[in-house]
Amino acid sequence: MITLGIETSCDDSSVGIYCDERKGLANVAANQLVHEKYGGVVPELASRSHLRNLPPVMRAALAEANISLGDIDHLAVTQGPGLMGSLMVGVSFAMGLARAQGLPVMGVHHIEAHILANHLERDMLFPSLVLVVSGGHSQIILARRPGDYRLLATTRDDAAGEAFDKVAKIMGLGYPGGPIIEKMAKDGDPKAFKFPKVKLKGGGLDYSFSGLKTAARLLWEAEGRPENMSDFAASFQKAVVDQLLGRCLEVARGRSLAAFYLAGGVAANRALLGAAEERLGALGLAVFAPSPKYCTDNGLMVACAASFHRKEKSSASEPLKPFSRGNLAAP
Ligand code: KG4
Ligand code: ZN
Repeated sequence: MITLGIETSCDDSSVGIYCDERKGLANVAANQLVHEKYGGVVPELASRSHLRNLPPVMRAALAEANISLGDIDHLAVTQGPGLMGSLMVGVSFAMGLARAQGLPVMGVHHIEAHILANHLERDMLFPSLVLVVSGGHSQIILARRPGDYRLLATTRDDAAGEAFDKVAKIMGLGYPGGPIIEKMAKDGDPKAFKFPKVKLKGGGLDYSFSGLKTAARLLWEAEGRPENMSDFAASFQKAVVDQLLGRCLEVARGRSLAAFYLAGGVAANRALLGAAEERLGALGLAVFAPSPKYCTDNGLMVACAASFHRKEKSSASEPLKPFSRGNLAAP
């Protein structure tokens, strides 16, 4: 079975091709550099770019897999959550293609696609704990098996990726900020700047990143642009990693788990992966994250997620309705 997956939830237009037996055959993305100069994604520009990008990106994916459209058995598309206009372009493209080719099409939840991206390079183990960290989400999810998820913690304000992006903007760096901060942090001293430890009123496991972002702005202004930007980047990155993993350790203790996974764009951060290996590894857990290219938004993870559900979820006969919000799992 060969599935073609389409992802347009934010600013990347991506198409991936997944084969049940051989896993990833192709993964092509067009990144919309147009947003760089605005320091964030401009929704209207994103939708227009998806419209232009999808046909050539799909052709490139088919060429990379060395197959033609006639070889595809199934279509999958991100249905939500994400930017409404961007999702509508992807979903309409998928529905049109399904009609023209006479193929079934399935809507996929973006967060599930991020989680199951871990299956692309090695078979996933269950039950597992997954830290989903992206531009829109910071959640700890218990994955009992594909399709069975429980939300254990989420963010009360900004997501971790959003915090990276906003602090990069304060530092006068480009967009997206996460990879730039990670690169800069490699030469920095993570102990050079003190960031506050985040404690939420009423305790609880939820995350909060807006305080860290404000602390970063105040520190940055007080220092009048610190001489050593790498120290600042390394210290901020450590504060994010410490908060993210601190909660995971609390949740993981005492649970019977097969593995711990990272998922989402921020999972591309190898400092986060290294710290997770050390800290969750100390509990005896195997720790995994997808390769960076499969952490950020991509069509292959969408195709892979759909392949798990083909048997139990019938494909849409009605038009798929995109949704901008909505958790994958109930608390
Ligand atoms: O999953 P994703 O591609 O899109 C969303 O679903 O939001 O995640 C994008 C986020 C951005 O905030 C970006 O700054 C962050 O992931 N990101 C990183 C790294 N690569 C991407 N954050 C930290 N370190 C990275 N290497
Ligand atoms: Zn994403």
